[in-house]
Amino acid sequence: MKTKVGIIGAGPAGLMLSHLLHLEGIDSIVLESRSREEIEGTIRAGVLEQGTVDLINAAGLGERMMKEGKIHHGIELQYNGQRHRVNMHELTEGKEIMVYPQHEVIKDLVSARLDAGGEIFFNVEGVSLHGISTESPQILFSDIDGEAHELHCDFIAGCDGFHGPSRKMIPELFRQEKQKIYPFGWLGILAETPIANPELIYANHDRGFALLSTRTPELQRHYIQVDPKDDISNWSDDRIWTELKTRVDTNDGWKLPDGPIVQKNIVSMRSFVCEPMQYGRLFIAGDAAHIVPPTGAKGLNLAMTDIQVLKQGILRFYQFGEKELLNKYSEIALRRIWKAQRFSYWMTTMLHTDHNKTSFERSIQLSELDYVTSSRTALKSLAENYVGLPLEWEG
Ligand code: FAD
Ligand code: DHB
Repeated sequence: MKTKVGIIGAGPAGLMLSHLLHLEGIDSIVLESRSREEIEGTIRAGVLEQGTVDLINAAGLGERMMKEGKIHHGIELQYNGQRHRVNMHELTEGKEIMVYPQHEVIKDLVSARLDAGGEIFFNVEGVSLHGISTESPQILFSDIDGEAHELHCDFIAGCDGFHGPSRKMIPELFRQEKQKIYPFGWLGILAETPIANPELIYANHDRGFALLSTRTPELQRHYIQVDPKDDISNWSDDRIWTELKTRVDTNDGWKLPDGPIVQKNIVSMRSFVCEPMQYGRLFIAGDAAHIVPPTGAKGLNLAMTDIQVLKQGILRFYQFGEKELLNKYSEIALRRIWKAQRFSYWMTTMLHTDHNKTSFERSIQLSELDYVTSSRTALKSLAENYVGLPLEWEG
């Protein structure tokens, strides 16, 4: 079996790369270890930056997103029981974000690829990478029927998430991994309730962080900070609602609507960057190369900017036989990644409650929230980062 670009992983990064390459007439094959139903049903991100929305529209995939997604012009930050609106639209001269769930983006991408005759192998096993420092690398895998295949390609795109095999193929001698593990976890729920608030609420509370988000008018997505080692079986629906309400209720009588919880889980939080993001003919993108804590809503959006740089590099290679941009893929992508890492780290430490901190540090944290919500300069910086920084190709 042969293709130009062998893509491992059908997440947002792998699928969008395959689609963008197809629009340029470059063929690729996507290998995914999970089933189509599973990738289309996994609940993860909710917030798309302006740049991601623009990319999805420019790639001809925006029809359902523009109908079913919800544009938000701002968010609210809450601390000491009071809310402070961040008017992102005004602070960024007209930019906005879109709440449209990641699994809907995945559905749109999968159907676009399959409708265009694209090849996605679901339920593959035993994926291994070979010859990445040669000009004709191969991927070995078995398909859903257990039949073994050898995929020969010009390039391998490792879009296989944090636990995939690609990153580890960059020899340790050339690979640096930098990370921070937080003492925080997020317990996320999907609940059948009316919308709690027209905009997302990021709340700091002595008992821990809480986030109110949404999916549809009838289905809401909320999160609370918990111990990352906690077990979801310790959290009855009643306990979750009591905790959420304690953290988000305000002094003015506003009450969080509750209802049946249809899904709940706990994720741990880390910041992680692998440098560089390429070796020979292997390029890694998205969560395979970096993880951000979810507080800044950056993970999916970063995956989308990585693959825009990668696509452009691959395109120049086939159009002009020129490798310069491909050679600079990692350098260009990492510049933006580190800025998103900085922002996600900052949002996380500003909003979460670390019970190991001293009362002095807690007062500094509250003072930071006071500063951010009262200084136009600080608000502008938050808004500029939240809607997404531009991708800087030069300079
Ligand atoms: P993934 O989505 O992880 O896709 C990788 C794919 O590779 C998977 O489908 C996996 O099955 C496949 N794979 C793995 N190993 C193999 C193998 N050996 N062979 C073949 N296939 C393999 N981001 C935002 O931008 N905004 C948000 O609001 C946001 N909120 C979040 C909230 C939560 C609770 C969480 C957990 C994450 C959130 N994120 C958010 C982050 C976002 O979900 C990820 O950054 C995004 O999924 C990364 O996309 P990806 O394509 O790089 O990787
Ligand atoms: C959602 C997730 C985030 O990480 C975030 O910062 C905002 C919203 C969500 O899942 O809706």
